[in-house]
Amino acid sequence: MSTQDKVAIVTGAAAVLGSAIVRAFVQAGMQVVAVDIDIARGEALAAELGPRCRFAACDIASDAALDALVAEALQDAGRIDFVVNNAVVYGDAGMSATRGEWLHALDVNLVSGAMLVQKTADALAVHGGAVVNMGSVGGKFGAAGRALYPAAKAAILQLTRNQAASLAPRGVRVNSVSPGWTWSDALSRMAGNDRALADRIAAPMHPLGRAGDADDVARVVLFLCSDAARFVTGADIPVDGGFSMLGPDQGRSARDWFGAALPE
Ligand SMILES: NC(=O)c1ccc[n+]([C@@H]2O[C@H](COP(=O)([O-])OP(=O)(O)OC[C@H]3O[C@@H](n4cnc5c(N)ncnc54)[C@H](O)[C@@H]3O)[C@@H](O)[C@H]2O)c1
Repeated sequence: MSTQDKVAIVTGAAAVLGSAIVRAFVQAGMQVVAVDIDIARGEALAAELGPRCRFAACDIASDAALDALVAEALQDAGRIDFVVNNAVVYGDAGMSATRGEWLHALDVNLVSGAMLVQKTADALAVHGGAVVNMGSVGGKFGAAGRALYPAAKAAILQLTRNQAASLAPRGVRVNSVSPGWTWSDALSRMAGNDRALADRIAAPMHPLGRAGDADDVARVVLFLCSDAARFVTGADIPVDGGFSMLGPDQGRSARDWFGAALPE
């Protein structure tokens, strides 16, 4: 397997989605540096996964912390092959957000990942590595009441193309993955931890008929890092059960809509 003994840095690794990516990477034979500010969950993940996973308590919004993270990874493992920018803050006051809230959201959700790529680019170029940035269906469509998160997620898709173009000459691939609604802490909170309810509400928006699983996303992130994707760069892969292929007509023709609305 092309990922055996490769070294990955995964941010936002303590929560459900990030930890699924870390698990998939460890199962694929990688050494993973699992990065988060949630120390309790990060340490629990590392304890569960054993020596192939090292937890690094690191605030990605700090350049000094990122410098130390990269230096330690290189000292410990001697190489960095993959970076997965997955960490996020969801706080979003939409049109009422203050400048400070805007800057914090953009800092964690966009700029910090860009800084991590900048700081790892030389190491990634040594063996022809890969970056995966986490997008979202939230960055592709209008939604009332939100602004900060979707703006950052939309920007990540463009940043991915620019990073891919900049790093292609050095043999480093950069892609993004855009999940739909995925069973995670946020979705579980909204659904009162009722997975069947989440699937029922998600089904009309996700033609495959359910919310995503963290592992659905992790498999595609792993694919993008593996040699199976060796000629893929600057791409966004939706992992959304078909959410983003639909328009406002929800995949039904005008004939269907009129047929349903008008009496026989
Ligand atoms: N859950 C979904 O339905 C969904 C849908 C589409 C996209 N996504 C994307 O998937 C990714 C993971 O989402 P999630 O739902 O698991 O989020 P989450 O909030 O559950 O987890 C995010 C993790 O990032 C960590 N983090 C936050 N700020 C940090 C910082 N400054 N430094 C280091 N770590 C920090 C948090 O501690 C947390 O463990 C995000 O990029 C999100 O945009 C999620």
